Amino acid sequence: MASHESSYTPGSAVEKWIDERLPIIRWSKEHLMDYPTPKNLNYFWTFGGILAIMLVVQIVTGIVLAMHYTPHVDLAFNSVEHIRRDVNGGRIIQAVHAVGASMFFAAVYIHIFRGLYFGSYKAPREILWILGVVIFVLMMATAFMGYVLPWGQMSFWAAQVITNIFAAIPVVGDPILQLLRGGFTVDNATLNRFFSLHYLLPFVIAAVVALHIWALHIPGNNNPVGVDVKSSRDTLPFHPYYTMKDLFGIIVFFIPFAWFVFFAPDLLGHADNYIMANSQVTPAHIVPEWYFLPFYAVLRAIDFNILFIDSKLGGVIFFGGSILILFFLPWLDNVQGAVGHVPSDL
Ligand code: HEM
Repeated sequence: MASHESSYTPGSAVEKWIDERLPIIRWSKEHLMDYPTPKNLNYFWTFGGILAIMLVVQIVTGIVLAMHYTPHVDLAFNSVEHIRRDVNGGRIIQAVHAVGASMFFAAVYIHIFRGLYFGSYKAPREILWILGVVIFVLMMATAFMGYVLPWGQMSFWAAQVITNIFAAIPVVGDPILQLLRGGFTVDNATLNRFFSLHYLLPFVIAAVVALHIWALHIPGNNNPVGVDVKSSRDTLPFHPYYTMKDLFGIIVFFIPFAWFVFFAPDLLGHADNYIMANSQVTPAHIVPEWYFLPFYAVLRAIDFNILFIDSKLGGVIFFGGSILILFFLPWLDNVQGAVGHVPSDL
């Protein structure tokens, strides 16, 4: 702690007793309230808090949806309709979860942009950044598998196309494809394992987020001018200054979120996904949700062979590379004097 040492003194005999055995109240006070935060953070820095809330929203609504959803090819589509039409509050819970996925990605893209723009990936925050990229990859996997669950046309064909990507990998491609699908085709086994993993992965994300925030609290926050918080006096305790600023950011973020949920819950979805999956009818255009379009464009852009690499594998290499490169960013950008290297106490 730089300028704000822990001010915790147990207020009662019970608190003292707990503190000597499991100093969880002390820990919370140090990390959630007294944590020294640069004075100059702008609203881009509220997106970490917004993301944390969105993760909770997705997990809570997802658990309720899972109570009424049936992961079987004959029943899945109708069980989602049943949720929307018959379950109490189901229309809203399903809309919050579906729109929530889009809002979660909008927030994560802003959060990543902030990190890129202000150089938050640079030393000493490399591990913090890498954990962020791990979270992003896990989010992509979770969102993709969630999209398959309603078993509409787009769900089915997205599962078809995306699992097929793995077949392009030499030698191990086919075994991986069969493992993902649970057989030779996208079928009931695929739906079942996607449901299982879609339920599991958000909790893995939550665990990685805990590491992410731990890795943030060691060097402290980056900030618009790169003041080093470890030796700077230009800090404020996280509470009440940033709890209030984050809360305001969260409320503002929830306004467009609520607008979509209440006024246009299906606007971000694709019309074809309201048609039940049919392996005999290919949709005119197989397209992912908006937040995957840049990656899908990379995958499809390579429609030519590159020497001995055929176009399909080429697309997969560039698609994978566009994500993999983010892991190496802290070492690819070594421009000196940029934000993040400014001396303290400016
Ligand atoms: C579920 C997803 C995520 C959650 C809940 C989350 C949470 C947070 C929180 C609470 C903070 C501190 C507040 C702030 O700076 O906004 C933070 C900081 C940060 N996050 Fe994330 N994050 C997530 C995803 C990501 C991703 C995908 C990346 C990058 C690929 C990333 C990179 C960073 C970086 C570099 C910082 C440090 C910012 C700074 O100090 O300037 N995060 N994150």
